[in-house]
Amino acid sequence: MNIKDHIRSIPDFPKPGILFYDISTLLAHAEAWKDAVGQLADAVKPYKPDVLVGIESRGFLVAAPLALTLGLGFVMIRKRGKLPGDIITHNYDLEYGSDTIEIQADAIKPGARVVVCDDLLATGGTMVAAINLLRSVGAEVVAAQFLIELAFLKGAEKLDVPVNSLVSYE
Ligand code: PRP
Ligand code: MG
Repeated sequence: MNIKDHIRSIPDFPKPGILFYDISTLLAHAEAWKDAVGQLADAVKPYKPDVLVGIESRGFLVAAPLALTLGLGFVMIRKRGKLPGDIITHNYDLEYGSDTIEIQADAIKPGARVVVCDDLLATGGTMVAAINLLRSVGAEVVAAQFLIELAFLKGAEKLDVPVNSLVSYE
């Protein structure tokens, strides 16, 4: 099954000149999505993770079914103000302005092997921030797993962990 056949590209979204790769069509196709999750599981298994982490929001769509498939727990990294209890916060700079992500303080056991999942690797800024947050709570980040990589943006070069993606666009 070719996953690219199920990903729709939409020009000029969210801004003129941007080609948006839309995974809605993949998610809506039961057979193709099951196949994709199987391929993700094959990619992630060799890292022997203790837990999978997903980055809000589209990273949840990848990490949650993958964790179930692999028989692992799933932990959320969320945007500011969404998680209850003791929270660890990480602020990071964007091209214009800054952003904040959070994780629950007790979500990761110190030394746990973590694979971080997101739908898309673009500039890499989101994943760099997630990895920094995870390291601050004692995680050993063993890989970053994506569905899609926009290789021409060279985001992988910013990441100091193994990077995997199911499909790549040049
Ligand atoms: C998108 C995408 C990745 C991130 C990739 O998320 O889901 O998380 O951007 O970009 P980067 O590599 O340049 O950081 P977005 O912030 O649009 O929000 P969403 O997941 O909530 O839709
Ligand atoms: Mg996202």
